[in-house]
Amino acid sequence: MNNFAKIIEIERGNIKFAYVQNDEINYLDLFDQFLAEEGHHELLDPSDRIERYTYLINHEKTKFIFKIDGGVEHRLERRIIAKLTGDFYFNLIHKLAKISLDKCDIAYELYLVAFDKVTKRHYMIFNFIEGRSLKWEEMATYGEQIKNCIEKLHSYNLVSNDIHGGNFILTPEGTIKAIDLTNSGFIWLTKANDAIELRERFGIKIKVPVIAMTIKKFTHGFKRLSRKIRGKKD
Ligand SMILES: Nc1ncnc2c1ncn2[C@@H]1O[C@H](COP(=O)(O)OP(=O)(O)O)[C@@H](O)[C@H]1O
Ligand SMILES: [Mg+2]
Repeated sequence: MNNFAKIIEIERGNIKFAYVQNDEINYLDLFDQFLAEEGHHELLDPSDRIERYTYLINHEKTKFIFKIDGGVEHRLERRIIAKLTGDFYFNLIHKLAKISLDKCDIAYELYLVAFDKVTKRHYMIFNFIEGRSLKWEEMATYGEQIKNCIEKLHSYNLVSNDIHGGNFILTPEGTIKAIDLTNSGFIWLTKANDAIELRERFGIKIKVPVIAMTIKKFTHGFKRLSRKIRGKKD
């Protein structure tokens, strides 16, 4: 059984870990096992971004998602924000644990996060959610559930920041769960990105803080203006 109230944090060589305690399965062993066998697993939907891989792994009849994110942030302002707010994925394991403890059922579960200080890669182990991704045109159909899901996520100070059908799983029970949670910048501000993408792409309206919305609208407008001045198309 996963004990989401107990997150173990350790360092081993160059790698820093945080993982959920579980009496039956040691996530640290699962991590070692996966790394030893990398390449022998099923790669899901290899994303076009370099150094981001998602694998499906089977361990004693339980399916897990193993994700590698090797993205290194070069933009100075983003690096400063990351220094101020802490490592996104290490924050994520605590926030998702809180959601699991509250039995909120709106997102995936994160069991382990690791960061290799030398390669700058992040590794993560999630639960595999049975079901299927939503198609673009189904997003509006499930609008009410998606709205509830994202508003709930925001209440835990989490954001999607990449709203499209591929990042929502429809379970056989008919519930919607968010996956692939990422962030760049301040979360309170990124909530406005979710609101803008939901409204502009799918006509779904959610509540977000007015101040975040105002700043985003302003920077949106500013970016367009600066592209125009530089003679680029929108
Ligand atoms: N926890 C999960 N449960 C079920 N399927 C998943 C899970 N995580 C990822 N997937 C599948 O793998 C695909 C890619 O994963 P994602 O985390 O969205 O990676 P990317 O960063 O490449 O978009 C998803 O669209 C989904 O089909
Ligand atoms: Mg995705």
